[in-house]
Amino acid sequence: MEDRILIVDFGSQYTQLIARRIRELNVYSEIIPYHAEPDLNGVKGIILSGSPHSVLEKNAPKVNPVFLENNHSVLGICYGAQYIANDQGAKVLPSGHREYGRANLKGITSHPLFKGIPENSQVWMSHGDSITELNDKFELIASTNSIPVAAYHVQGKNIYGIQFHPEVYHSTDGVQLLKNFVVDLCGCDQSWTPQSYIETTVAELKEKIGDQQVVMGLSGGVDSTVAAVLLHEAIGDRLHCIFVDNGLLRKNEFESVIKQYEDLDLNVTGVRAGDRFLDALKGKTEPESKRKAIGATFIQVFDDEAHRIKNVDWLGQGTIYPDVIESVSASGGPSATIKSHHNVGGLPDFMKLNVVEPLKWLFKDEVRRVGKALGIKDDILSRHPFPGPGLGIRILGEVTHEKVRILQDVDDIYISSLKKHKLYDEVWQAAAILLPIQSVGVMGDERTYENVVALRAVGSTDGMTADWSHLPYEFLSEVSNNIINRVKGVNRVVYDISSKPPSTIEWE
Ligand code: XMP
Repeated sequence: MEDRILIVDFGSQYTQLIARRIRELNVYSEIIPYHAEPDLNGVKGIILSGSPHSVLEKNAPKVNPVFLENNHSVLGICYGAQYIANDQGAKVLPSGHREYGRANLKGITSHPLFKGIPENSQVWMSHGDSITELNDKFELIASTNSIPVAAYHVQGKNIYGIQFHPEVYHSTDGVQLLKNFVVDLCGCDQSWTPQSYIETTVAELKEKIGDQQVVMGLSGGVDSTVAAVLLHEAIGDRLHCIFVDNGLLRKNEFESVIKQYEDLDLNVTGVRAGDRFLDALKGKTEPESKRKAIGATFIQVFDDEAHRIKNVDWLGQGTIYPDVIESVSASGGPSATIKSHHNVGGLPDFMKLNVVEPLKWLFKDEVRRVGKALGIKDDILSRHPFPGPGLGIRILGEVTHEKVRILQDVDDIYISSLKKHKLYDEVWQAAAILLPIQSVGVMGDERTYENVVALRAVGSTDGMTADWSHLPYEFLSEVSNNIINRVKGVNRVVYDISSKPPSTIEWE
């Protein structure tokens, strides 16, 4: 088993960032909520995160005493540092005001935790309480102008505390500090790479699945594709993939995705079920009822198909780390609501299978790096995200065959133009939306009364927030001309200049 750093989450907004920074040092890190029972096998160091709570609160979240015993290497950040200080009898007091923003370190000693970090190094602070006085169990390592204790070492132990956040970009030498802790003080090997992930994961999958069978639904997107290729490396054709054409995919996407999967040697069945989805959407105009109809039909189609495969034991899924963290985080994630519908009676059979999630430990960019190391082509790995309900939520109002045809043609012109002008990789996601209104136009000598389409492109890192992309006017002009001239039924194109929040990326 490789070296691991365990990050214990007390609900800080920065916990994921700590994990990222350590993985960027090629050391594997894993987050657990503070109340979880830890598996310390292979753990070389423990980081206690910050928290919105105060150690002075009566019901403050507790650090598991196991972490502070048995000679573990521990770094407390903010709340973590205050907790250890308080626990060891130092003085922690409310600061009166919340200290937030930049500060500079003063009086840095020659401690190995601060190797290579210069005096005045800028750090990022975000705390309500302060450690005001240490006792003789501690060695002071650094202060700032406004706080006496910015960093300390618990003498005779491999336990350290820092008041600032080394994981954020504004802490100029934060990565150096984390490296000093992880590599020098914990002794971790910097050997965690996409290749090593592939090797360990494939070996684990082989052991877990043995000679059993796995069924998996593919979406054509990055996560499910990389997950399927990893599973295929482990168990070959005992992985049965299903790709459903819900009639709401992009133009020619079904054929091109099936071809890509065949090129990757995946054992994939394509199911054309467009009519079933369009039937289920008949008469529906409200966005959530459309989503529900699409979701329910998908489950029926997938279940029918999965039943054709004999003796399936496992369901493969492309879940990635941010989804997992959301559902286990100390502050509680949306897991309760996400899971509630699974409790409804009459679950389809495939939902009763054991679940295998080979990407459960990876962030999105790491999924791409693993995909690259597996030999998956860039045009799959750099695909924009595409929602499960597809064009169904980009055709506002009722969905019909004719509207799907119009939007597929518009979308095809838009996306291929973005690629042609090398703008596709510059934006995080791009979409065309068919609006439920007609407007007057004139073509040749004739008055027209036809559809309006909106184009949208956004920059984002995770879809949670997004800015509208400032695509060049010449580009928008060319795309608009091409759409109106070539797509029958459209006589007006508009560009969406709203950011998220307060708008969302999709219109429904
Ligand atoms: P919104 O519209 O909420 O979208 O700003 C954020 C990201 O999520 C995608 N999205 C969905 N993906 N099923 C999905 O699989 C859905 O129902 C769905 N709704 C939105 C959206 O494309 C964007 O990337």
